[in-house]
Amino acid sequence: MSAPPKTVLQASPAEAEAIREAVRHADVSSLGMGRARAELKHVPGLVALLSDERVSGPIYDLPRPITEDSVTRWVAENQAQALAGEALLLVTLDERGEVSGYSHIVVWPERSAAELAGAVRADLQNRGRGSAGMAHTFGWIFETLGVRMMCLTAALDNIRSQKGIDAAGFVRMGERDAVRPDGTIRRSVYWEMTRDDWRMRHRL
Ligand SMILES: CC(C)(COP(=O)(O)OP(=O)(O)OC[C@H]1O[C@@H](n2cnc3c(N)ncnc32)[C@H](O)[C@@H]1OP(=O)(O)O)[C@@H](O)C(=O)NCCC(=O)NCCS
Repeated sequence: MSAPPKTVLQASPAEAEAIREAVRHADVSSLGMGRARAELKHVPGLVALLSDERVSGPIYDLPRPITEDSVTRWVAENQAQALAGEALLLVTLDERGEVSGYSHIVVWPERSAAELAGAVRADLQNRGRGSAGMAHTFGWIFETLGVRMMCLTAALDNIRSQKGIDAAGFVRMGERDAVRPDGTIRRSVYWEMTRDDWRMRHRL
């Protein structure tokens, strides 16, 4: 289950409502080519994507097992949470219109905070695009959704994620037990970053 940052920020009611509005109305096409909010029509593509352990294996907050039913529920829950301004489940569609990746952004408006998880299809991995793609998404979350804090976790052996997150300037803050939906625990590296640090580092 997604967990908010260890560091607690307090958003004013106005800031929290602005974040909710940003999540509800964000133009996700500004995140990049082929990006769209996940809808029920994407369920077969998501099931195909996530059934591949090379894609879903390292991710703790996915529905398990991956089935048509569990993914349908997951998409529908995220649509409801998007209306509440508390989550965005996005797909990436390739030139053939097939689901080639996904991003799951969980938002805690009252804490001005967000967490990101995601993956790309196996044939698109290991091409050296991961770090740039991650940095682009982190910047989009800070600037488009307006949160002041992000946290991330990655499995202790997930070198590719760790490299991308470190390269973006996130600060390691020890480890964390990430809890899967079935209650099992995955020990994870834990990072945080503030929007101020992001802007300073990326000279915005
Ligand atoms: C994580 C993911 C998005 C990274 O994207 P990617 O395109 O495969 O990653 P890259 O090829 O750009 O590799 C990322 C970095 O790891 C490095 N790397 C890759 N394999 C490595 C290895 N075995 N040892 C050391 N470094 C390695 C790359 O050189 C690159 O470093 P650089 O940015 O300094 O050049 C993608 O692999 C993925 O979807 N994985 C499955 C799901 C997942 O792990 N999601 C994240 C959960 S937190």
